[in-house]
This record gives sequence, structure tokens and C-alpha cells, in this order.
Amino acid sequence: MASRNDILSSSFLEPEPAGACIFVLFGVTGDLARRKIAPALYNLQRSGMLNERTVVVGVARRTLSDDTFRQEMLQGIRTHSSNQPIDEVLWADFAKRWFYHVTHFDEADEYTTLWKRLAELDAAYGTGGNRLFYLATAPEMFAPIGMNLCQANLARSKDDGFVRVVVEKPFGRDSESARALNRQLLNCFDESQIFRIDHYLGKETVQNILILRFANAVFEPLFNRQYVDHVQITTAETVGMEGRRGTYYETVGAMRDMIQNHMLQLLALTAMDPPIAFNALDIRNEKVKVLRAIRPLEPEHVASCTVRGQYIQAGDIPGYRQEKGVTPDSQVETYAAVKLYVDNWRWAGVPFYLRTGKRLGKKASQVLVVFKREPIRSFLHEGCDIRGTNRLVIRITPDEGINLVIDAKVPGVKMQLRPVKMDFQYNSSFESSSPEAYEHLLLDAMQGDQTLFIRNDEVEASWGLVDSIRLGWELTGKPELIEYAPGSWGPQKADGLFDDPYMHWQTV
Ligand code: BG6
Repeated sequence: MASRNDILSSSFLEPEPAGACIFVLFGVTGDLARRKIAPALYNLQRSGMLNERTVVVGVARRTLSDDTFRQEMLQGIRTHSSNQPIDEVLWADFAKRWFYHVTHFDEADEYTTLWKRLAELDAAYGTGGNRLFYLATAPEMFAPIGMNLCQANLARSKDDGFVRVVVEKPFGRDSESARALNRQLLNCFDESQIFRIDHYLGKETVQNILILRFANAVFEPLFNRQYVDHVQITTAETVGMEGRRGTYYETVGAMRDMIQNHMLQLLALTAMDPPIAFNALDIRNEKVKVLRAIRPLEPEHVASCTVRGQYIQAGDIPGYRQEKGVTPDSQVETYAAVKLYVDNWRWAGVPFYLRTGKRLGKKASQVLVVFKREPIRSFLHEGCDIRGTNRLVIRITPDEGINLVIDAKVPGVKMQLRPVKMDFQYNSSFESSSPEAYEHLLLDAMQGDQTLFIRNDEVEASWGLVDSIRLGWELTGKPELIEYAPGSWGPQKADGLFDDPYMHWQTV
């Protein structure tokens, strides 16, 4: 009989250090490596979660010595690690196992020298043939790197070791390209070797959606069409285009950049059925069912079910069209809102409203579950909200936590009601601070746990939905792109998406 541990993914167990491996980071001279990946590796080492034989090999086109490479990574760690000040002694020791290897990603011949270098390091450090290839390169390089690894006999380990490949986002730009990329990677690796990143799944608060729903019997019975009026999912950012991001953003826009991945994952976790077990197979099976049940938008519905916006200049703050790398008449949306329906028995008829945008009033990611009002209003009188107040707010970032808004009696001789919050805050309830999303994900990839990574069918289902919306936009030219001021909450028209004219977007 299976023990409890057999059916729980390691993500839900006490953390254990990873086994030794060579962590091969393609695209190491890029921004992501410096800002996220090197600091995450350092933090894992600092917290004792890496094996003392783990080796890091940075791969890129530029010619660099091992020493300069280590210096550059240290700069990134100094600037971006959440653990400050840096433990210089620890880094000096760890850095001895960081190496640089120059390779042009699309030059198949150069992978033979990479093969040799990895074999030498394997022998020197005893990493048992375990390799984790991390593709943090431009997306058009994912398939060529996969193929070249394969041709150089690097896609399979000759010993008992593992070979895994972590693929950054964006995974394709529509269904067709995502399917093609899946096919190309699956020609070289098994699905069990492929780890598609969505960094939102590495966030504590996102994982806590599962715990809230399935470890607390009090909420789960309410998560359905009988009790839920609607769900709002917001990911709002105050930043615009940082550095060279304008050039990239011109090719994606808010719909591809945030809704296709992070926001649909939040929706899937909020709406999924309880999995048979908390492991990669069963959790992802349930998520993909939700993603496939979301009703695609027909072109005639995009105008009434979506809103597109673009931020404009205000004082010193450049508008999107003034950002570096952006065309002066760009039609790319920096804000998108959409009303969706999940056509299954649990959620039929319950709208899910999603909105995301750059340069909005505040940084906030949250899921808000708005409950239906009670069937008969016993307390309907002056001072009472006619629409009911019960809502569950899952604050993903910042101010991580959860609150439940309920009506309470205002002290006094009169029967007066007022909404109050029952509040759980991570930082006051737990002493330890949350690890960065990338730390959790890198550790899981080293341990072979795919629970928090996206499976091929999830990617394709999400793109299917986004394609339907984008096709509607292209065919109808609607809805029109609305300008909004930086610091606002985006186009006001987004309030018009709500079925109930008294409902509106909320961030708590
Ligand atoms: C990335 C998007 O995936 O997520 C960025 O490409 C966005 O445009 C970022 O800024 C937001 O992540 P977070 O963790 O800051 O909410």
C-alpha cells in the first residue's frame, strides 16, 4: 500500500537538500541570470539546500574567463539577493565550483567541447552524470539548443544520472508555435525531463491557494457556482518598460506576457477540483481540465468581454510609445482585462474577471472570490450593503496573506452592520521569510519534482484560449485601445465588464 509520502510531491514535504549535479545555465550573460538565477543559487547554498559537490557552468557567446564570470555573478548576487549582506567566505568557496564555457547556441559543433568540459567536471567533482540544463536565452534559441544537446549526446545520461532541461518563458507565442516547440523538445527529451517555468508557481502565496482550498474543509464546499458570485484576479504593476524590455514587450503585450501564463495558472488553481493526490501528475491533471473548460471567446464577443489599454505620458513618466524599443504608433496593449467562463459543473455561469497592466496605481497581485449574498436579507436597512459583503481575498503580493470580509454588528443599541476583515498575514504569522520563487523552482528541478512546472498540454490549452481572443481582436479591430494615465487603475471601461452594474474591480 502506498505511504503518504509516495503520494505527496516533494514540494509539500520538509525540504531536503538536492543531490549533486552540474547546473548548466545557457544565456548566463543575460539579465535573468544576474537578477534571479545566480541569487537563487547563492541563497540555496546559503540555506544548505545544495549539495557540496554541485557545479555551475555558465554558457554564452561572449568570451569570458572563469574569474570575470564569477565577478559578474557576484555583482548580480550583491544587488539582487534577498539575503544581505553577502557572506563573502561562503561565496568564495562556492564560486570555486562556478565555471564559464563559451558556446554559440546554434553551432552544433561547439557542443562537443561542452560535452568534454562537462565530462571532466563530472569526473572531478563526482556529480554522477547529473545535468540540469537551464535555458535562459532568447526564446528562438530553445529548440536549437535542445537539438544540439541531443546531437552531442547530452540529452541522456550515460550513467544512472539524470538529464533535465528547464525552459524559461515565453513558451511559444501562440498555439502553433508552442506546439512546434513542444514537438521539437519532445524529439530530444521525454516530457519527464522538461521543466517549463512559470515563476508565479514558485511563489509561496500561489502554492498556498491549494493549501487554503484543500487543507481547510471550511472553504472547499463554498468554491462553486452555488455560493460564488464571481472571481476577480488582478496582477497590477507600477513599473513600465525597464531597460531593454520595450523591444521584447512589443512582441507580446499584456495578453501574452501575463494572462496566457501567470493569470491563467492562478485561475486554474482557484477553480480546479481536488486532486486525487498532491503530486505532479494529479495536480496538473486537474489544472489542465480547468484550462480546457474555459470557453474560448468568439470574435463577436471580444468587444464586450475584453478591454485593452495603453499607458500614456504624464510629466516625467514616458508613455509606452515613448519607451525605448517601442514604435511611436504601437498598438500593443499594456493593460488587458477579460471576462471568462469555466464551462464545467462546478463553475458554469460564474464569471472570472482577469485584469493586468503596467504603470498602474499600485503593485498588487491578488485573487478575490466574491460570494453570493444570503438568500433572504434579514438585515436590509439603512447602512447595509445591498449586494452582500462576503469575499475571500488571497493577497499574492505584496503584503502576502489572506483575508475574509464579513459583516459584523457595529457596537451600540442600534442594529447596524459594517464589513470587517479577518486577516492572516504571512509576515506576522510566520517567523521565517518566504524563499524567492526561483529558489523553490530550482530546488524542485534539481530534485525532479515537476509539480510546479507547466506540462505541455497546459501550455497548449492556455494558448488556445489566448489565440481565440487575439484572433477576435485582429478580425474585428475591437475593442479599441484605450489610453490611461500612469498611476491610474487603467481604462474605466473595464468596470463595464461586470454583469452586475454595481460590481467593480477591487484591490484590498
Ligand atoms: C514576467 C513578465 O513574467 O512577470 C513581466 O514578463 C512582469 O512583464 C513579471 O513584470 C511580473 O512578475 P512579479 O513576480 O513581479 O509579479
